[in-house]
Order: sequence, then C-alpha cells, then structure tokens
Amino acid sequence: MSRRDIIERLVREHEIIERAVVEYIKMVYREYSRDPSRYEEHVAKVFENIREYLIPHVEFEEKEVFPLLRDSRIVDELLEEHRQYLKMLEKAKVEDRMVWKIGVLEELAEKLHEHVRKENEELLPLLVAAVSSC
Ligand SMILES: [Fe+2]
Ligand SMILES: [Fe+2]
Repeated sequence: MSRRDIIERLVREHEIIERAVVEYIKMVYREYSRDPSRYEEHVAKVFENIREYLIPHVEFEEKEVFPLLRDSRIVDELLEEHRQYLKMLEKAKVEDRMVWKIGVLEELAEKLHEHVRKENEELLPLLVAAVSSC
C-alpha cells in the first residue's frame, strides 16, 4: 500500500467512524439507557458490531500508519488510547450489570470522538508532511 493510499484509507475510515460508528453507539445508548434490563439479550451484539469495525481499523493504524511516524510522542499516546478502548470493550463483554454495560457505550462514544479528532488534527498533518518530504 503506498503512503498516499494509507492516508486516503485513514481519512475515509475516520469519516465512517464519526458518521456511522459514533452515531450508532450514541443512538443505542439513548435507547438502551431508558430501560437497560429490556435489552439484555441484544447488548452483546452491539459490542460485537463495534469490535468488528474498530479492531481492523486499529490494526491498520498500528501496522501501516504509526510505523511511518516512528519516535513520535503522539503515536505513544494514540497507542495507549487504543489499549484503553479495547480494554473497555473486553470489560463490557464480561460485565453482568446492565447499567454499567450501557454506561460503557456513552464513555466509548466520547472517547472515540476525541481520539479521531486527535488523529485528524494532530497525526494527519505529520503524516502528510512525512509523505511530501520523500
Ligand atoms: Fe486510532
Ligand atoms: Fe483512527
């Protein structure tokens, strides 16, 4: 994959995360938090859907994007944030208390939004500069 393709894929996937994944999480949160016990059977699928999209994106960034900016402080921060989301998703999976499980959705939507903002506003300009200098 060329560096330009990597940047295009990153931008495209972030648009999907913002417009679809974050909005989906917020929508489910709004609905499920009204009466958490009603959705006990469905919530596992919600977390599975989120993982299905996020895990390939995180892998793409860690294998293809971050190595282009070695030794950059922002990369360390972003890697740490990836660990946090994946941990939140794992915890939510085994958690029995529905109110807590649903609460994770609200926290995840906020954190993801902030993470994507950081990648677009701080990481992307560094990547573009790295591509144009080679
Ligand atoms: Fe990321
Ligand atoms: Fe990202």
